[in-house]
Amino acid sequence: MSVGLVPTMGALHGGHRALLRRARAECDEVVMSLFVNPTQFGPGEDFDRYPRDEGRDRAIAAEEGADRVFAPSVAEMYPDGFSTTVSVGDLGAVFEGAHRPGHFDGVATVVLKLFNLTRPDAAYFGQKDAQQLAVIRRMTADLGLGIQIRAVETVREPDGLALSSRNAYLSPEERRRAPSLHRALVARDPGLVEGDLDYLAVVDSDTFAEVEPRPGALVIGAARFGSTRLIDTIRIEGR
Ligand code: PAJ
Repeated sequence: MSVGLVPTMGALHGGHRALLRRARAECDEVVMSLFVNPTQFGPGEDFDRYPRDEGRDRAIAAEEGADRVFAPSVAEMYPDGFSTTVSVGDLGAVFEGAHRPGHFDGVATVVLKLFNLTRPDAAYFGQKDAQQLAVIRRMTADLGLGIQIRAVETVREPDGLALSSRNAYLSPEERRRAPSLHRALVARDPGLVEGDLDYLAVVDSDTFAEVEPRPGALVIGAARFGSTRLIDTIRIEGR
């Protein structure tokens, strides 16, 4: 019996569905975790207003064939006295990590705990959050977890905007500007972003060191549209 885990924070959309479908196709038992993890949000970020609808999320998980939903409370995950943190070092300190101090320590710590509580053979993550994927791969290799980390292609709207739970925050006017982030990545032209750009860079997919454009390298970007911060990634194709 192989177990596949799909970690999520809920507010499920087509991107999460793609992860669930891939897990369903490849594993005997599919577990989806649903937990808005407070430790990966910084002060002043959107933890309190993050969209939550457990009933809808459970229905979508069932539609996509998940066998179990693991939805712990904050008190269950972080009881009084909790004090251990997983830190991935330099990889967690650049780009997203530089703009969101502590973010990847929060992600790595909760994902390791979710792995230990659900004991999967394989776990599924989206390419959109490419640095998160690299952090999880690094942690899994460094700590000898013996779990296969499988990456799933980014699901997009027809205009190129990557699906994200945070797209729900966008006003109609911001929603019209938001696809410019994807266009900027494709053209590798920061000037195309119709918002406040945090970074646009070409990086190695494992180390996130900046590299010259080459097949297999990633183009990563983050930008704010109003108060909503979006990230996206594309991979430079080979010949
Ligand atoms: P969340 O933002 O809910 O995303 C859950 C998973 O869905 C992540 O692996 C993410 O990369 C993937 N995903 C999001 N948008 C996608 C898209 N448009 N196409 C394909 N996959 C997409 O990422 C998290 O939650 C959290 O950090 C978590 C890993 C659960 C730890 O708390």
